[in-house]
Amino acid sequence: MEAVCGLMAALLALGTLCGAEPVKFHDCGSTATQMIVDITPCPSLPCVLHKEQTYSVNVTFTSTTSSQTSEAVVHGILAGIPVPFHIPNSDGCKSGIQCPIQKNQKYSYINSLPIKGEYPSVKLEVKWELQDDSKTDIFCWAIPVKISS
Ligand SMILES: *[C@@H]1O[C@H](CO)[C@@H](O)[C@H](O)[C@H]1NC(C)=O
Repeated sequence: MEAVCGLMAALLALGTLCGAEPVKFHDCGSTATQMIVDITPCPSLPCVLHKEQTYSVNVTFTSTTSSQTSEAVVHGILAGIPVPFHIPNSDGCKSGIQCPIQKNQKYSYINSLPIKGEYPSVKLEVKWELQDDSKTDIFCWAIPVKISS
């Protein structure tokens, strides 16, 4: 069993055989705890995001608040300036989260990030917030990405 676990850890570390591995993110003011952010595929940072491709996002967290609603707000931060990023569905309650959100409950927020062909090929930071009823961030994380053709 130990050998199997060791092997699995080695494979996870390689990051090639497993689709999802957590990325190191900057926490920009989450009230949630025990956050895991998975971007697939993103084997290393900055995430290289190719145009015309869609990336999946899986944020697992434990809520410390309760909320009827949850709304995602995504920005690309380019040279310090936040630019709104379009995501197909900003309703967190339709993105894998069963609302109302309850305190001390674990959730996985599942969404996708489509990279449009017209996006410039630049390095930027993606900041992803999920806001509760009072517009307080349930989670807020940021990661460096590089948009590439
Ligand atoms: C999201 O991540 C969590 C924790 O890593 C995992 O348990 C869950 O299966 C993932 N969900 C999807 C749809 O990938």
